[in-house]
Amino acid sequence: MKTLSFLCILLFLCSEVFGKLIQAPLGDGVEFLLSKECLKGRGRLNLRRKDASTQLIASLENVWKPGPQHSHRVNQTGLSLILENADLNDEGLYEFTCNGKYLEAIKLEVFVPSEVDASEGEDATLPCRSVTAGQSVKSARWRRNGNVVLHLDGTGGITYGEDVNRSRVSIPSEWDRQADLSLTIKRVQQQDEGVYYCDIDKWEKHRSAVRLRVRPEVPTAASSTPLPTTTPTPSESSDGIWIAALITSAVTSVIVGPLAFLCGRKRKREARDEETGALSLPDPYWKPDRYPACAKGVYFRSKRFTIVTGQNIC
Ligand SMILES: *[C@@H]1O[C@H](CO)[C@@H](O)[C@H](O)[C@H]1NC(C)=O
Ligand SMILES: *[C@@H]1O[C@H](CO)[C@@H](O)[C@H](O)[C@H]1NC(C)=O
Repeated sequence: MKTLSFLCILLFLCSEVFGKLIQAPLGDGVEFLLSKECLKGRGRLNLRRKDASTQLIASLENVWKPGPQHSHRVNQTGLSLILENADLNDEGLYEFTCNGKYLEAIKLEVFVPSEVDASEGEDATLPCRSVTAGQSVKSARWRRNGNVVLHLDGTGGITYGEDVNRSRVSIPSEWDRQADLSLTIKRVQQQDEGVYYCDIDKWEKHRSAVRLRVRPEVPTAASSTPLPTTTPTPSESSDGIWIAALITSAVTSVIVGPLAFLCGRKRKREARDEETGALSLPDPYWKPDRYPACAKGVYFRSKRFTIVTGQNIC
């Protein structure tokens, strides 16, 4: 028994080094891509925790069914298995065994991200601070959607992710002295939105997450519209204002009301047409062009799912 749990712990440690990694924010759905062995027949998905205990998350009986403690949280959609509404207790190693074959374990880390808001075009700094002195930092990295944004090696060399514009992202040059690996993104755009993960591989490992939200730029034309020169002053009789208001509202209900009704009907019809279309997910969550087919990992599928893997799926 002792040997078995030792083996399990060893397995856990090894998988931690070699396995796939999924990082997800609290409350999001986590998507596991099913390998072809796991689409039919029999199988199980176990969660192995740090103390080597396991829990059945779902079982395959030609279709995937949730385990006893996950009855409303596991859902198969096509080629993937979704664990809805991730929480911290979901952390651990997810082990698929299908049709007698033990498949790769996947490590899940769940984060409570801090929040950073920035306006489009502004620079944004995503905080990541942790003691580095006396901790022999081996490496550090920022990731998003399972893809490396910026990687720092032990000698201080920096490499960038494939689709990353290196002139837009940086960490402080004195990161070591200042214990500061915060990521600065220049002139943020809508497509920079998302959850970013900071991992520092050192004596005491550090991991944290930041959610970047980008406020759309307010069109400058609207704010620069000249004010009418004949603005009524507060000294004007309030009766006059009331009469004006009454007239305005009467005119509005007579003219605008029917117009709005007609427009509403048109819009409803358009909405119906859209529903019959294949997919109409809202931007910025549905921009397949942003994620080239050969990028690492799996992508945002909808507002509710953050889906990442650490593996190259090409
Ligand atoms: C599974 O997903 C489908 C489609 O997203 C949804 O309609 C269904 O309610 C989900 N089931 C569970 C148990 O969450
Ligand atoms: C990278 O960013 C810089 C500065 O924002 C910009 O001038 C340049 O065009 C970008 N390069 C690419 C390939 O997008």
